[in-house]
Amino acid sequence: MLDRGLDFLSTYLVTARDPASEGQGYFRADWDHPLTFRAIEGQHDVEGVFGAGLKLAALGVAPVPEGPEIVYVEALFDDYAARFEEELLHKLGYDAPQGLTALIEHELQVRGHEQVGHAIDLGCGTGLMGERLRRRASYLEGVDLSGEMVALAERKGIYDRLEKAELTAWLGAHQGGVDLLAATDVLNYCGELAPILKVAMHVLVPGGLFALTLELHRGEAPMLLRPSLRYAHNGEAARQACREAGFEVLAVEETVLRHDRGEPIEGLLLLLGKPAAPIALPVSTPAVADEDELARARLDG
Ligand SMILES: C[S@@+](CC[C@H](N)C(=O)[O-])C[C@H]1O[C@@H](n2cnc3c(N)ncnc32)[C@H](O)[C@@H]1O
Repeated sequence: MLDRGLDFLSTYLVTARDPASEGQGYFRADWDHPLTFRAIEGQHDVEGVFGAGLKLAALGVAPVPEGPEIVYVEALFDDYAARFEEELLHKLGYDAPQGLTALIEHELQVRGHEQVGHAIDLGCGTGLMGERLRRRASYLEGVDLSGEMVALAERKGIYDRLEKAELTAWLGAHQGGVDLLAATDVLNYCGELAPILKVAMHVLVPGGLFALTLELHRGEAPMLLRPSLRYAHNGEAARQACREAGFEVLAVEETVLRHDRGEPIEGLLLLLGKPAAPIALPVSTPAVADEDELARARLDG
């Protein structure tokens, strides 16, 4: 293990040699230099656990993937789990569950409901959103990639069912009949929206709700990968993707999701609705009307 560690260190230190210290025998790992990540990717990150490929994409020297390697996100949150709540709530000013719950509760009130029957907390983490959803759902499922996060959520005893799984694949195999889906501070780790919107549409009942947050960016690209290795979406492009998937956009709010290195992370809170009835398609009329048939129909009528 030690050998592997030393080998690993020597690779990236030598590769990212600091030119300013040339000749003095000092080396520096330059965490913003593509060579550092090329070395890590090629020799130590074949499976993608360290996110080296993603970092190369964020540095602009590799194509941006549709989404990160699952193993990278899993390892990230397994490692973070024990510190997650303390940091998010007390240091980073994390507020997304509260904002998203307010949108859901308002919509339920408009519809004259206290609760929904079946809700799923996607990327449930330690259960910060689940604590709020519990009051609004008679049956609550949670799903998350990270076993360590799921273990902490389990201890809270707020979910009727918890699964350790990748959410898009898991939802694709779900039996459906779901009234409410929530994805709070999750889809910025997933990338492209279309695959998750498609499976969400599939599991929701007509009239069902999908509440989600996104990191917001103000540039023109529909989606970009940030140096934080989280994805951010352009607001209009995100709404368009939701409409193209067949959802109605019921509410949109801009917010600060949390802080990162002292900087506010701007975000979007979105509440989507699956139409209660299938959207009516225009009735096709024959291009050339048969005059005899029309005359017969007039007589019959
Ligand atoms: C920032 S945490 C948010 C947790 C929780 N929703 C909350 O509001 O506190 C993001 C969570 O999403 C999970 N996650 C990210 N991508 C996922 C995926 N594709 N499938 C399942 N879980 C995922 C991570 O493991 C992590 O627990």
